[in-house]
Amino acid sequence: MKITLAKTSPLLQRDFVFGVATASFQIEGAADSREACIWDTFCATPGRIKDGSDGLVACDHVNRWRDDIELIAALGVDAYRFSIAWGRVIRADGSINQAGLDFYIQLLDALKARNIKAFVTLYHWDLPQYLQDEGGWLNRGIAYKFAEYADVVSRAFGDRVYSYATLNEPFCSAYLGYEAGIHAPGVQNRQQGRQVAHHLLLAHGLAMQVLQRNAPQALNGIVLNFSPCHPASSSAADIRAADMADQYHNQWYIQPLLEGCYPDLLTQLPAAEQPQITAGDMAIIAQPLDFIGVNYYTRTVYRANSKGWFSDVPPTAPPLTDMGWEIYPQGLTEVLLAMHRRYNLPPVYITENGAAMPDTLLHNQVADAERVSYFQQHLQATEAAITAGMRIDGYFAWSLMDNFEWAEGYAKRFGIVYVDYATQQRTLKTSAIALRELFAGRQK
Ligand code: FCB
Repeated sequence: MKITLAKTSPLLQRDFVFGVATASFQIEGAADSREACIWDTFCATPGRIKDGSDGLVACDHVNRWRDDIELIAALGVDAYRFSIAWGRVIRADGSINQAGLDFYIQLLDALKARNIKAFVTLYHWDLPQYLQDEGGWLNRGIAYKFAEYADVVSRAFGDRVYSYATLNEPFCSAYLGYEAGIHAPGVQNRQQGRQVAHHLLLAHGLAMQVLQRNAPQALNGIVLNFSPCHPASSSAADIRAADMADQYHNQWYIQPLLEGCYPDLLTQLPAAEQPQITAGDMAIIAQPLDFIGVNYYTRTVYRANSKGWFSDVPPTAPPLTDMGWEIYPQGLTEVLLAMHRRYNLPPVYITENGAAMPDTLLHNQVADAERVSYFQQHLQATEAAITAGMRIDGYFAWSLMDNFEWAEGYAKRFGIVYVDYATQQRTLKTSAIALRELFAGRQK
């Protein structure tokens, strides 16, 4: 099985960056050498994680990082996106954990030695529990602590980092964590969700100032997730519902960054559900960005509900991934071009895209033809946005290897590399081999 792109495809040009992505809590393990985080607490709460699992060992990456770097290098990628565990770097008493910093520094050096660009995410959801105990993202002070953490990391890493992203998908931390309640810390409260979103964006802005000072040579930005919001019917009410959902879930995070204000939908929220915004916050949030990372998986369909609000209509018709998400590659072109038309964008990278499939390891092989086809279609969808005139500088497959898929535990496999959790053995899936061939076939 091959992934084929036209010979003249902009994706095959030498300066287009191909990479694979992971996140600290999902792969690292070695929980005893870091502080506990909100996901440890969430995992320890019965009923929160579908398979009752946790991140204590995960892919044991902290102990196996050398082999994992070899694996990444053997794929022929240009870049590796990973995140830093805040609680591996700063202890509960505020002191710096040098061994934790050194772990990442040796990883960065190993990447540099192999000519692989390091895309570092500072926050991929694993807030130290000691900060949660002070109110977590509901406490405005955490935004300033995040800037201090960004300072410690960016000073220690020096010029080893090609790109820093402050946050990964603040939508998930705010909405899934504080409104839907399906991610840590598992709260269901709209005002809190909107307040957390605001503090995350403030933290981003404060950290951007630090990164531009400490690492001016790096591409500094943020990673957001987007899902096109489609109406369930052609009724005016459903069309309006889909537009509200787009404002609430997508524009809520990008518009403050690029235009310094929240979407108009803000004014439709009852006063008691609106976030508290301090004078000057929006200017801090709207720092110039060197790039925006776009994570894309699927589209979402909405209908109007009886409360004058929107409800999502889960997909039932195939093709669906193992997450139950509709395979909808044209949605990637759609969100990209919608951003391109509406905003004055910095360069964009697709920082995550991929699919969970019910993989099986048989005779040392994983024949994940559906994932190969998912990549094929989404690479073409990326290409279509570039052809339409948008600047997109890279694409990262989610994920390098199977890992802890948050509330779904280990049952959902997103890797291009299969992980046998009993032995920690890694096996390239057919998709990894297809991507490796695609990368190798590029112009030099
Ligand atoms: C994204 C997350 C990533 C992974 C994928 C499937 O929302 O950023 O960690 O879980 O979804």
